[in-house]
Amino acid sequence: MIRRFVTKYMQLIVANWKMYLSIKESVRLAERFKRSLPKPRARVVICPSFSALSLVSAKIKKSPYFLGAQDLGPTDRGAHTGEVSAKDLRELGCKYVIVGHSERRQMGESDKLVRQKFMTALRSGLKPILCVGETWPERKSGKAKRVVRRQLESALHGLRARGECIVAYEPIWAIGTGKAAKPAHAREMHTYIRQLVTENASRGIKIRVLYGGSVTSKNAASFLKEPEVDGLLVGGASTKSSFVRICSSSQ
Ligand code: PGA
Repeated sequence: MIRRFVTKYMQLIVANWKMYLSIKESVRLAERFKRSLPKPRARVVICPSFSALSLVSAKIKKSPYFLGAQDLGPTDRGAHTGEVSAKDLRELGCKYVIVGHSERRQMGESDKLVRQKFMTALRSGLKPILCVGETWPERKSGKAKRVVRRQLESALHGLRARGECIVAYEPIWAIGTGKAAKPAHAREMHTYIRQLVTENASRGIKIRVLYGGSVTSKNAASFLKEPEVDGLLVGGASTKSSFVRICSSSQ
């Protein structure tokens, strides 16, 4: 039923460089990706740290790679010390922005703030990538779907935007642990997320659900071949040259 409204398109692979690399290392890596994979089969988005955005943006200009940011401020302008405006991200060449990553939620970012950032991103013409996912204790006590539902409904409720809605399912227990979820587990949660987005957003919106959490060049293909997986959000492994192999695993 739900798949009826979903258009299948190029898989999306997002490199989240977190705070792993220096500015120089970021520029060098972007250059290396561009050289070794001049025509990725997937749509590839590179999200460097804020400080490296400008130089990486210049480096990937006129390449098939897209630029994304790892976070954004909750409003466009104002007295918000230390925040980064969505408008400035656009000016720097960003097309995408990660919103509500668990590493930010764990630092105190509430569902309310995540929604604010999500809406600000949309208003500013950025494509938000909304991260959701449960902790291990939540999973063990059977609350995983409830947590994901809360995070999704709070961010998307009444969403009237057109175009696409990108959600990254990132179980917190899989992030940076080397213990990726099983593709079958991702499949089940992705189906659920698709259903929730359909219930909460405007009809006809295109839904992309990405998987994130300990993706490597060894397991990427097993996720990407699942029809419910529209792409990947890759942390640690996206800072290595083997990221090129992850991009080539795209279906
Ligand atoms: P990881 O991180 O691939 O290093 O597990 C994923 C993420 O946090 O986006």
